[in-house]
Amino acid sequence: MDPPHPPLQTYYADAPSRSGWVRDLFNRTAGDYDRVERAMAFGTGSWYRRRALLQAGLSAGMTVVDVGVGTGLVAREAAAIVGNPACVIGVDPSPGMVANARVPSGVRLIPGSAEHLPVPSASVDFVSMGFALRHVDDLATAFSEFYRVLKPGGRLCVLEITRPRSGWARALLKLYLRRVVPWVAARLASHRDTPELLRYHYDTIEACAA
Ligand SMILES: C[S@@+](CC[C@H](N)C(=O)[O-])C[C@H]1O[C@@H](n2cnc3c(N)ncnc32)[C@H](O)[C@@H]1O
Repeated sequence: MDPPHPPLQTYYADAPSRSGWVRDLFNRTAGDYDRVERAMAFGTGSWYRRRALLQAGLSAGMTVVDVGVGTGLVAREAAAIVGNPACVIGVDPSPGMVANARVPSGVRLIPGSAEHLPVPSASVDFVSMGFALRHVDDLATAFSEFYRVLKPGGRLCVLEITRPRSGWARALLKLYLRRVVPWVAARLASHRDTPELLRYHYDTIEACAA
């Protein structure tokens, strides 16, 4: 096993408990996700997701698998770029997130995970993953799945937040993501566990290898 970070025992007991705990947390708080994401990113989320996809080479007519599709923030941008929603498949292990997804009609949403992509080998031009790599159980398996489903010459676009190198930038990021964002979330959210999702979000960034 090659997890992105060691178990975070403030939240769950051990490595095997992690994926179930993460899925339940996303299920419970899914209804708040888009509202809190908009506030946290000052409404720039669609813009920078689209920009990342374009920079990674996504273009009209390509077929896409968006892994960790959640409420569809990356898949929506991908569908607009490729020009045909039927060319986009979203995969996610959380039924709650998928139930709250707002994607154009034609995008297919399928239960699954990065480690077990329910997609045939060498079948897509592009794999995207937005802010879900920190949640996989095994990085090596996830990347070998990305490689398996891509056609030869296909592209991979992984969006993630990494720990800043400078101490000042790290302290500022921590203040914002660990204190300000959960405080704001507690005021905007309808579920009481949403601030915990946001604290967990920062703690995984701090604990990650990269
Ligand atoms: C922070 S949300 C990101 C949603 C969306 N991609 C975005 O850009 O906003 C992380 C998503 O990853 C999903 N996830 C958790 N574990 C996963 C895994 N092993 N493989 C794929 N997705 C996973 C969660 O259910 C959740 O929907």
